[in-house]
Amino acid sequence: MSSENSKKSDRKKDHIEIALKHDVVPKRFISQFDEVVLIHEALPSLDSSDIDMTLEFIGKKLSAPLIVGAMTGGTAGSEVINGNIAEAVEELGLGMGIGSQKLALGDSSFEYTFAIARRKAPNAVILGNLGASNVFRMSRTEIRRAVEMIQADALEIHLNALQEFLQPEGEPNFKGLEEKLDQICDEAGVPVFVKETGSGISMETAKRLNGKKISGFDIGGAGGTSFAVIEGKRRNDDVAEPFYGWGIPTAASIMEVRSVSDKLIIASGGVRSGLDAVKAMVLGATLSSMARPLLRPATRSSDEVKNFLVKTEEQIRIGMALTGSRDLKALMKVKFLLMGDLAQWVRQRGIFSL
Ligand SMILES: Cc1cc2nc3c(=O)[nH]c(=O)nc-3n(C[C@H](O)[C@H](O)[C@H](O)COP(=O)(O)O)c2cc1C
Repeated sequence: MSSENSKKSDRKKDHIEIALKHDVVPKRFISQFDEVVLIHEALPSLDSSDIDMTLEFIGKKLSAPLIVGAMTGGTAGSEVINGNIAEAVEELGLGMGIGSQKLALGDSSFEYTFAIARRKAPNAVILGNLGASNVFRMSRTEIRRAVEMIQADALEIHLNALQEFLQPEGEPNFKGLEEKLDQICDEAGVPVFVKETGSGISMETAKRLNGKKISGFDIGGAGGTSFAVIEGKRRNDDVAEPFYGWGIPTAASIMEVRSVSDKLIIASGGVRSGLDAVKAMVLGATLSSMARPLLRPATRSSDEVKNFLVKTEEQIRIGMALTGSRDLKALMKVKFLLMGDLAQWVRQRGIFSL
């Protein structure tokens, strides 16, 4: 392994260890799902068995609008995490993302830590992952290799400006990606999603990206895992601290993007229950993704991952029933109220006339 790759591998290991050991959600910032109130339907004209949570997503059927978010690969031991998640989502008919594949492109001896996901989940939706700060310098061959490594159903390109600026070995270089995005979409040969990693996507950014050949957005809003907190723990100074709460709260980001785009939206960043996932869809998301809540279970066994996901699916079913929603299309028409800071946000940004 080259010394540069070994440093990157250490960094990914740090991220996992810090995310396991510490509460990496800033105290004074929330996803704002608590400020979304769904109107209760006291008389739902349906039986539990009528509820259809299934979803067609990038050519495959998901049993519920839920995937596990990108976290790892490229470090010794990360194959256990990806393998356990893969086994669980295969059995449940859900999907997953894998962590940035850059390490495996630099050193093919890491490929197995990602490829295990497809081996354990031959049918599930699996999303490949490359970082914005380097994907636009990659060759067509490298991008295709990332897709083929896991026979990816789609490729996520992660935007992580906050993290790249704060991490000691960061590469805060994003100039040029926007111009090259269509070419990357062509080269990938599978649907491409632009994904944030905890700071959210605004309507202005979504507008700029909407005309591109991407299939959709993975919001990665603020209120869940914060890379300012994670990188703050890796630094020996306090530069990161003012940025702990930086970003667009997930609930707000979903509405920002939906207000300017009809493309697919994956809601992520602080989705902590099936009810949050239901709220995300009422606000305009196509499906939801949860990352860190699955990390600890995934270090233990596929059964622990499965139990968490089954519980979350049950919460989605109950949330749908209590809003009288027979299927996901009905869910999108559910009436809701926005409270507190979220209502302020939406009003000031002119998203709806409240
Ligand atoms: C340990 C860890 C590693 C992560 N690595 C990646 C990554 O390699 N690529 C990526 O796009 N997102 C990565 N993420 C971000 C997640 O996919 C997700 O956007 C973010 O954690 C917010 O979701 P959460 O609040 O449910 O954790 C990582 C998250 C965690 C916790």
